[in-house]
Amino acid sequence: MDRWPHRLVVVLFPRRVVPGGNGIIGGRAVTGFFTAPPAGMQVAADPGQPSTIEASQVSCWFGSHKVIDRTSLVMAGGRVTALIGPSGCGKSTFLRTLNRMHELIPGASSAGGVLLDGVDIYGPDIRVTQARLQIGMVFQRPNPFKHMTIAQNVLSGLRLAGIKRYNRDEVVETSLRRGGLWKETRNRLNDLGGSLSGGQQQRLCIARALAVTPRVLLMDEPCSALDPTSTRVIEETVRELCSSLTIVMVTHNMQQAQRVADETALFLIDGEGEPGRIVEHGLTADIFGRPRDPRTDDYVNGRFG
Ligand SMILES: Nc1ncnc2c1ncn2[C@@H]1O[C@H](COP(=O)(O)OP(=O)(O)OP(=O)(O)O)[C@@H](O)[C@H]1O
Ligand SMILES: [Mg+2]
Repeated sequence: MDRWPHRLVVVLFPRRVVPGGNGIIGGRAVTGFFTAPPAGMQVAADPGQPSTIEASQVSCWFGSHKVIDRTSLVMAGGRVTALIGPSGCGKSTFLRTLNRMHELIPGASSAGGVLLDGVDIYGPDIRVTQARLQIGMVFQRPNPFKHMTIAQNVLSGLRLAGIKRYNRDEVVETSLRRGGLWKETRNRLNDLGGSLSGGQQQRLCIARALAVTPRVLLMDEPCSALDPTSTRVIEETVRELCSSLTIVMVTHNMQQAQRVADETALFLIDGEGEPGRIVEHGLTADIFGRPRDPRTDDYVNGRFG
């Protein structure tokens, strides 16, 4: 509270997103890319510095069912933050509020603030499309456009956002390099996205998300559908990306959290139907090695969940 007093405004006037209102596209498959001009968000950080994203007192509902209760979390710039916790405790829902995807679900609503370098992405001057360009997302199942070529997939976010780039070959190469897929695809850029393996498709989705140069990348169990080798490649990619990007990753894999995350937050619910909350957040080494809360100790040591 004391770092950003203006957050009080956000907290005191909770937002409820009206189902069917602005920005809601009921039931439509979402890829993280939208069709608005890319007006730049005004951010407080130095250009080029990884951005900090902060959830402030975030609550979420599906209809009248509250699934996240007043949850705050600072996800530091240039670091990987892992979100862990048992199934149904609200990790994906919380993640989706960080780039305003929660409000795409019919009946969904939320309250609280999400600050990207101090600017509330739910603020009146911020368009939802701007927020999603700054805060990209990769989903559990790889979802490339299977009938587009590899190069077209990489450029698809820019195209959908109406961003013109005259150095498209460079964007394709840079994005595929950053996504850890360049070596395997440089001689087959015109092959279809659907011709890649599952692990390669997921890295193509990462490259596609990176092509619009987001400040933050959200990843919801990005390796859960992949084999151990592909998982390892993606983990290496995440570690390389985090020098220039802020990454928030949901994972059920405790070893993965320890391998890739600088910080970890544990979500839990008190009982069936109760909303999820963060019970402990800290350095990953502390969460797994010296947890403060006995529930964290139990969870990370496999005693429940
Ligand atoms: N579209 C939806 N409509 C209604 N309720 C939903 C919807 N999506 C999720 N929920 C409910 O919200 C709560 C949190 O779900 P969420 O998917 O965020 O959990 P999670 O921690 O990501 O679980 P998992 O580890 O299984 O992915 C659950 O009770 C779930 O049933
Ligand atoms: Mg989930």
